Amino acid sequence: GRLEFTPPGSVNRSCSGAPQGPRLAKMQLLFEPTTIPSHCHAQLESDLLLRPLAADDDARGHLELLSVLTVAPNLADGKYRETFDLLRACPTTYFTIVIVQKSTDKVVACGTIFVERKFVRSAGLVGHIEDIAVSKTMQGRKLGLKIINTLEEIGRGQGCYKIILDCSKDNIPFYEKCGFKHKEFQMVRYM
Ligand code: ACO
Repeated sequence: GRLEFTPPGSVNRSCSGAPQGPRLAKMQLLFEPTTIPSHCHAQLESDLLLRPLAADDDARGHLELLSVLTVAPNLADGKYRETFDLLRACPTTYFTIVIVQKSTDKVVACGTIFVERKFVRSAGLVGHIEDIAVSKTMQGRKLGLKIINTLEEIGRGQGCYKIILDCSKDNIPFYEKCGFKHKEFQMVRYM
């Protein structure tokens, strides 16, 4: 199996050292797979594969998975791909990872860290963790923890000085187990 990342605007090239895919396939990935440190692939059941989001992960149930989190209806023709391409066109900014169950070829867990570039803190970088979801049947098997740990490693690798996230009160214990602590409050204004 081969996972490939083709930087926007360049020709295909293979990435040696990338994890083995469930089947021989060239996939268009959101970011270079070696951005995920190799030790993050350890301790994952053999039927599971951790990798960057692929352009066709809608066909693997990415949106159905996200519906455990919030409203995530199917998108009109081309909109998933269009969104993927927009994220991919911002290098070193959007890192969405997925865990795929090889036997079913379904996405069973996902999460994103996006990297905000600031003027303060000597042009510091802040990582924002977003859209963490584990499919109902796979919850409680440490996949959420694995996703967070991997996103943290990606953020560290990008040079973030901190990583922040918003969550419901119910999820505070989960994030505390992942090493986060409560700080500040969230405000919102719906448009
Ligand atoms: N309350 C208390 N403890 C929890 C909770 C919870 N709601 N969820 C997990 N934990 C604990 C587990 O018991 C485990 O503890 P242990 O190490 O002592 O055994 C530890 O946290 C790690 O749990 P995981 O098995 O990794 O959790 P899971 O794979 O089920 O993922 C998640 C947790 C992501 C919250 C999942 O339940 C889910 O997808 N929920 C619905 C969507 C959601 O709420 N996502 C988060 C939104 S916030 C955001 O995206 C920034």
